[in-house]
Amino acid sequence: MADFPRLEDINVTHKTVLVRTDLNVPMQGGKVMDNTRILRLLPTLNYLIKKKAKIVLLSHFDRPGGKFVPSLSLAPLVDPLSQALGGRPVKFGVDTIGPAAAEAVKKLEYGEVLLLENLRFHAEEEKGDAHFARELASLGDVFVNDAFSASHRKHASITGIAQYLPVAAGRLMEEELSVLSGIFSDAKKPVTAVIGGAKVSTKIALLSNLTKTMDTLIIGGAMANTFLCAQGFSVGKSLCEPKLKATALRILKAAEKNGCRILLPTDVVVAKSFKAGSECIVADVGHIPAWGMAVDVGPASIQLFSEELHRSKTVVWNGPLGAYELSPFDAGNITLARIVAKLTSGKKIRSIAGGGDTLAGLSHSGLSAEFSYVSTAGGAFLEWLEGKTLPGVAVLMKAGKNNTKARSKG
Ligand code: 3PG
Repeated sequence: MADFPRLEDINVTHKTVLVRTDLNVPMQGGKVMDNTRILRLLPTLNYLIKKKAKIVLLSHFDRPGGKFVPSLSLAPLVDPLSQALGGRPVKFGVDTIGPAAAEAVKKLEYGEVLLLENLRFHAEEEKGDAHFARELASLGDVFVNDAFSASHRKHASITGIAQYLPVAAGRLMEEELSVLSGIFSDAKKPVTAVIGGAKVSTKIALLSNLTKTMDTLIIGGAMANTFLCAQGFSVGKSLCEPKLKATALRILKAAEKNGCRILLPTDVVVAKSFKAGSECIVADVGHIPAWGMAVDVGPASIQLFSEELHRSKTVVWNGPLGAYELSPFDAGNITLARIVAKLTSGKKIRSIAGGGDTLAGLSHSGLSAEFSYVSTAGGAFLEWLEGKTLPGVAVLMKAGKNNTKARSKG
């Protein structure tokens, strides 16, 4: 992968450093439910504190649609951030631009941390508005992008701001880029991708592209139903996208042409209704009853997938394999995640997981820490796997190229 500027490449001491973070964390009733994204920022924040920078954190939260929505304020993130920083106080700025933001930045001392309000309270953020980007940039001397998980967005605080300030990748961005670029360049083969989730329609591009780069694709979750349906199996009341049958067949053909094996479930757990504890049976895919819906992979499929995982050297996982949020239909996902965890700890494979539901499924089974690497990204992880260039990453690469050119001229 081409190079990009890192924290060491820019002078941050006694500078005001604008750090784009992704504090779009799961919250309930003003409480952070999972602080992974906060903890993963610590290497960058601690470096900047040590270097005596003035640290200004920028982030979006949820999708307020360009207006002030009190329940989507970033204020409840101040305490969790401060706790993560070992009790160091974190200040809060009630706006992202304008006099309130400027005043809050002015009052900062070296080594102090300030969190500014939700960027998306301004419609200009998502429009990538140049004037808004310049206003943001006017608050600092240097820009650090540590939000890989938001770098698929061409927003003012991701791409725009970088036009006006020296830029560098934060530690988390650096880690994500180095691990995720390795999936395509130097992963040990055979590489298996486990792809689950509900809809083929949201992952068509991903599936098509993965047939070119992976040795095996294990397809589970409700998405597998569309493939089974395309192969002529009746799927009862299961979630399925019949309009995409032809697409599913095209993906199967592409896989054959590209030498990529596709494994689909051979049996499924069929429930009467989509409810935890609903009455259920195990059925071969040729015998799914008209009254039921497939909610999990069955024992024969688990065996089949497990054998494939044992043959693999690298495993990439995106999307749960069943209704992971409804017990006991989380069994397939948990069993296979445990197998990946065990193979990882036994150094038989390297495992990389990413995606919102995937991570929720892994935390649900308490297995996130057992994978070799867990990306903080959801949508960005998917776009990366699809082979797309993420706008926020492109900006960093461009800065890297410019620096190299400047060095070679000098
Ligand atoms: C995420 O949680 O994937 C990122 O924060 C991006 O959020 P968005 O999909 O609302 O842009």
